[in-house]
Amino acid sequence: MSSIIVLGSLNADLVTTTDIVPKGGETVQANGFQMHKGGKGSNQALALARLGQLPVKMIGCVGDDQFADPLIDNLKQSNVDTSLIKRIQGVSSGVATIIVESSGENRILVAAGSNGHIHAEDIDPAWFTDAVALVVQNEIPKDAVFRAIEIANDKNVPVAYNPSPVWDVPDNILAMVTYLVVNEGELAAITNTQLDENLSFETFTTLATSLHSKGVKSLVVTLGSNGAFYSTPSSAGHVPAQKVSSIVDTTGAGDTFLGAIVTKVCSNSSIKEAIEFATKASAIVVSRPGAASSIPTYDEIK
Ligand code: RIB
Ligand code: NA
Repeated sequence: MSSIIVLGSLNADLVTTTDIVPKGGETVQANGFQMHKGGKGSNQALALARLGQLPVKMIGCVGDDQFADPLIDNLKQSNVDTSLIKRIQGVSSGVATIIVESSGENRILVAAGSNGHIHAEDIDPAWFTDAVALVVQNEIPKDAVFRAIEIANDKNVPVAYNPSPVWDVPDNILAMVTYLVVNEGELAAITNTQLDENLSFETFTTLATSLHSKGVKSLVVTLGSNGAFYSTPSSAGHVPAQKVSSIVDTTGAGDTFLGAIVTKVCSNSSIKEAIEFATKASAIVVSRPGAASSIPTYDEIK
């Protein structure tokens, strides 16, 4: 049966909420602590499973610690197929240490753990036979990310790529990307440009043109509370963000945004319609604590 493949990370998110972020050498009292399930790959898989109708299969690795089972069970509860998630003995699962300020802004420090154990040779092309899309980000080793993109491309499977945390992406890989979804910092890094504080639509379209000439089919740049720009070789535009009355925790918003876009384009929506839907989904995520736990279902968005 056709399914969406997500290759990526699973993390235990250790979240401390605070009014003050400590400086080097300083100790401050925080407001609270919670453990959440996260990891960009896992968040994207959950968003796809909760928002869409297509089966979702995740490829990734957990360790052999106390976080492994809860991370897998959490995906299973939303009907994500976890049969391609490996358990790596003798290593810890991925952990993200997250500081959330009262404004909802977060700072994330990721220790890869088992996420660092998936490599190009572990990815079996046979897994992609019935795939309708590959969704991937950068929280696992580069060789695995690039190999998966190559396999998908060989098999004519559309690739949705969020290069976060950002690294250099060679032109031959960019040429295989169907949907490149980035924030402003990632756009600057991928195109090797210095960006002003606020990305103008004009600068965006210039950068988009150069990415299209390299083979990127659709480019989406998320602008936080300023919405998103999009560009394809035949259209470009801006979609405003939804107003959120109180931002609680932005963790997982970008991952949900990507999952929501893929959900919609897989059911033949235009990129603009997909972004409008994704904007609603991520507005819900930022109004709730945690990553996985804040990702809405399709019914909640309606
Ligand atoms: O994108 C948000 C995610 O980044 C968090 O869930 C955390 O695990 C880090 O990977
Ligand atoms: Na959230």
